[in-house]
Amino acid sequence: TANREKFRPAYHHTPAYGWMNDPNGMFYKDGVYNLYYQYNPYGSQWENMTWGHSSSRDLVNWTDEGLAIEPDGLGTIFSGSCVVDKDNTAGFGAGAVVAFYTTAGENQTQSMAYSTDNGKTFTKYDGNPILTADVPDFRDPHVFRHEKSGRWILILAAGQEMRIYSSANLKDWTYESSFGKGYGCHEGVWECPDLFELPVEGKNYSKWVLVCNINPGGPAGGSATQYFTGTFDGHKFTCDTKPEVTKWADYGKDNYAGVTFDNAPDGRRIMIGWMSNWQYANQAPTQQYRSANTIARDLYLYTDGTTEYLASKPSVENEKMRGKAAVKKNISGSNTISKMFSKPRGTYEVVLTLGNDNAGNVELVLSNTKGENVSMMYDAAKGSLSFDRRKSGNVSFSDQFPAVSVAPVVGSKLNELRLYVDNCSVEAFANGGRSVMTNLVFPSEPYNSISVKCGGKKKSASLVVYPLNK
Ligand code: FRU
Repeated sequence: TANREKFRPAYHHTPAYGWMNDPNGMFYKDGVYNLYYQYNPYGSQWENMTWGHSSSRDLVNWTDEGLAIEPDGLGTIFSGSCVVDKDNTAGFGAGAVVAFYTTAGENQTQSMAYSTDNGKTFTKYDGNPILTADVPDFRDPHVFRHEKSGRWILILAAGQEMRIYSSANLKDWTYESSFGKGYGCHEGVWECPDLFELPVEGKNYSKWVLVCNINPGGPAGGSATQYFTGTFDGHKFTCDTKPEVTKWADYGKDNYAGVTFDNAPDGRRIMIGWMSNWQYANQAPTQQYRSANTIARDLYLYTDGTTEYLASKPSVENEKMRGKAAVKKNISGSNTISKMFSKPRGTYEVVLTLGNDNAGNVELVLSNTKGENVSMMYDAAKGSLSFDRRKSGNVSFSDQFPAVSVAPVVGSKLNELRLYVDNCSVEAFANGGRSVMTNLVFPSEPYNSISVKCGGKKKSASLVVYPLNK
């Protein structure tokens, strides 16, 4: 079956068959997380954009729910979002799920559809399209409830800027403002925005985060997610950094189009991204299907000096997959576990805790018996972490694939490095998700050996490896 494919991720969301890109319309309701996605049901390359649908109760086990929204006379169905209309502001019923998406035909326009069965089936609104404009790139509407003004806000990408609209009934939208001119990175098209408020860790205030996916122009080449922090008054987003400042949510090559769940429980802000890059997504060496999504990550803000940054931590649900750990305590110098598992397996989590007496460089290498490896290096002098996948296995399907990505380690000290390894990916989280790198890898057999070199004096370092079971 499809599940026996060598590179098929075990615990990341994938389509059973066919092509997938951006996660769309994610929302939580009545104990269920719903994830829609850009989907080609007829083949494993980008085409025929349709919303596929999956659901989950734990963000790890996903059930295929079939097709949700299919192309129509206005075009194919591009990216967008869903909201839960608790107070029936649109008149589709209290608790109706309302989807917003781009209809991509001759022009890109915005349309909506509603569901009265918790997102299983949708009826298209008969007044579509609900938003038109005369810019060619006009897409990816993200809608949310702005409680303070008691209205709905829609943010979308229009060329090199984000446009903000407001509405009382989800159907009629008024233009409010635009953001982006001169701000951040403009080396590519702006796509897939999100806008939400987050508390700042350890402080008594919160900030707004404007997520702006951009392709190309990412720090490691190709697609990536930049973000801005600031204020939002219900009309206008005001960035709190100088225009030339660019902040990245993930410094790896394979995390794009990330957006967050509507209506997530307990005030959580949960993000999932598409684990690929437009540079080579259509060439990735998988069979039957293409692309997976990242693991779910909880977002939070923290400060370094006077600047706020976005961190993303693996959602706690991922920890339920942990099997019995192999533990090495009080390590220093060079350490190797040459057989992490008696039979090599492609799914595990690594937690390297360096503690506070850490100084000097740190190297962590995952390798297999074929001489393939992934090598991560923390350079203490530079305060950066690099991820080298040039010898990771099959790297020949694209010139853009063999690469080294580099992330700054904010605060310039590596305290912890946590890895989520699956059959074709490594997601690296340093210092509680303050520095993140997500990268695909296609080894000819799983990396079953780990070696860690700690420079300096690290009395309290420990290495823990958990097999992940699902
Ligand atoms: C981002 C994107 C979106 C668009 C979708 C089309 O990856 O280009 O802007 O809506 O993919 O599939």
